[in-house]
Amino acid sequence: MIKACIFDLDGVIVDTAKYHFQAWRRLANELGFDFSEADNEQLKGVSRMESLEIILKWGGVALSEEQKIEWADRKNEWYKALISNMTPDEILPGVPEFLAQLQSNGIRIALGSASKNALPVIESIGLGPVFEVVIDGTQTTLSKPDPQVFRLGAQRLGLKPYECIVFEDAESGIEAALNGRFYAVGIGRPEVLGKAHLVIPGFVGLQWEEVVKAMGV
Ligand code: BG6
Ligand code: MG
Repeated sequence: MIKACIFDLDGVIVDTAKYHFQAWRRLANELGFDFSEADNEQLKGVSRMESLEIILKWGGVALSEEQKIEWADRKNEWYKALISNMTPDEILPGVPEFLAQLQSNGIRIALGSASKNALPVIESIGLGPVFEVVIDGTQTTLSKPDPQVFRLGAQRLGLKPYECIVFEDAESGIEAALNGRFYAVGIGRPEVLGKAHLVIPGFVGLQWEEVVKAMGV
């Protein structure tokens, strides 16, 4: 019996994935190389410092620990500038309606994000009060595909993984959910998220009953 849904934030609730991509790409460009949107899939759900390591490897750039921190801070400042004017208009289509369905079905709602910027983002789009539990990058030590972020969410809800569905746009996020024995719904393309119990392009028109049925419970 499903009792809660745990949502990733970037690329699921709000389209901030594109801002992370823009800011990382600017960093790469300033270091003298580039990477594609397809490469960017590997960065989704991955923590700030781990993303930097991956990007530096792509560019064949070696930096000292101090320089890495400086570049990661720079990227975060660019990212924060991009999200500074966010409004509820940037909530992804169909999300408010789906959250309302959960509320009317008595399904509890939590957030499980790798981002250290998750709180200001959910506040600026007006969804702060919707999330009963928020686990973000300030509370985790292990990155997706480790299930820590979702396990902490379930623990805080007082639920078992098999009572929760995780909604994720990242391949690493789906793996994290499955590694933790959660049900998983992928938001995006089946080529990337095919391991999930259900893959949908987005929340528009999505019915809660449909989701439960697809989980086979
Ligand atoms: C995840 C994003 O939600 O958060 C990643 O998918 C990002 O792209 C990660 O790197 C960490 O975010 P932040 O805001 O702490 O740099
Ligand atoms: Mg995401």
